Amino acid sequence: MRTVQAENKKKVAAKLADMLGAPANEVVLTRNTTESLDMIIGGLDWKPGDEAVMVEQDYGAMIEMFKQVARRYGVVNKTLSLPMHPANDEEIVNFYANAITEKTRLLMVCHIINITGQILPIRKICDMAHSKGVLVMVDGAHAVGHFRFAMPDLHCDFYGSSLHKWLSAPLGAGLLWVKKENIGKVWPLLGDGSPQDDIARLNHIGTHPAATDLATADAIDFYNMVGPQRKEERLRYLQNYWTSRVKSLPHIVMNTPVDDPARSCGIANVGVKGMKASEVASKLITDYKIYTVAIDGQNVNGCRICPNIYTTPADLDVFVGALKAMKM
Ligand SMILES: Cc1ncc(COP(=O)(O)O)c(C=O)c1O
Repeated sequence: MRTVQAENKKKVAAKLADMLGAPANEVVLTRNTTESLDMIIGGLDWKPGDEAVMVEQDYGAMIEMFKQVARRYGVVNKTLSLPMHPANDEEIVNFYANAITEKTRLLMVCHIINITGQILPIRKICDMAHSKGVLVMVDGAHAVGHFRFAMPDLHCDFYGSSLHKWLSAPLGAGLLWVKKENIGKVWPLLGDGSPQDDIARLNHIGTHPAATDLATADAIDFYNMVGPQRKEERLRYLQNYWTSRVKSLPHIVMNTPVDDPARSCGIANVGVKGMKASEVASKLITDYKIYTVAIDGQNVNGCRICPNIYTTPADLDVFVGALKAMKM
């Protein structure tokens, strides 16, 4: 702890940066997405009347932080509702563009929406927002270790993720990436004496367990051993395996744009007509021992289905059979 912790933390952050194609001096290890993104939301120099744009399908912790800066600094939050089945990227880009005014400072957008699994065209959204002078903060809680991407290709300003999700790092491992030119724009949550443009400023967290950082390096090795492409292909195969068998059934509602590979990967959300998501989830666990997450709100009524690489087609056959049997 005394002699090598700081150096080890830096090394693991650099390894993570390398995995994401980002410069090492733009990445720090945090505890989770909440810490990463809420620090950005709370740390910008907000003025009364400044506006922020988000959607009701974003994650509650960040929405709560925006509500706090609204109360504290007079920020005006514009919360939209995302189209579930966009015809193309332009529909999504225009949807966000229409919410921007000359007062908008920050746009929050999920790389992948956690409740539906919809993947958003981040780069196009960022290019549009930047053309209007708006910064973009991306919630990538479910993206890192799930599907492949390179940070520089996204064109965003801030990016947060939870490495204990799809990267399978130990609980309490997160990532914050900040584009170099934006580091100085953020007040850190906890004071630090590093230079204004040094990302270490945003990472002064005091004594904490070294094990999480160290095991994150192993999680990256494991991910590389499995192979990012193989993992993504496996997750796509599994999602396609079950969605292709149920999506056209008349009693099934797909809440994820599964027909376009650019708009989804391993996660998808399915509803049953005439049933609340909680009833579907309850039947799945009671009758079939299948655990799902019921989403009943945020304009979604369905269960989130998250296979992982070890899920088998035979497991999914049971799930597909269960959905077929729910026909009223
Ligand atoms: C989209 C999204 N953002 C943020 C979070 C928060 O993650 P954590 O609790 O690891 O901070 C989650 C958690 O599920 C999420 O799904």
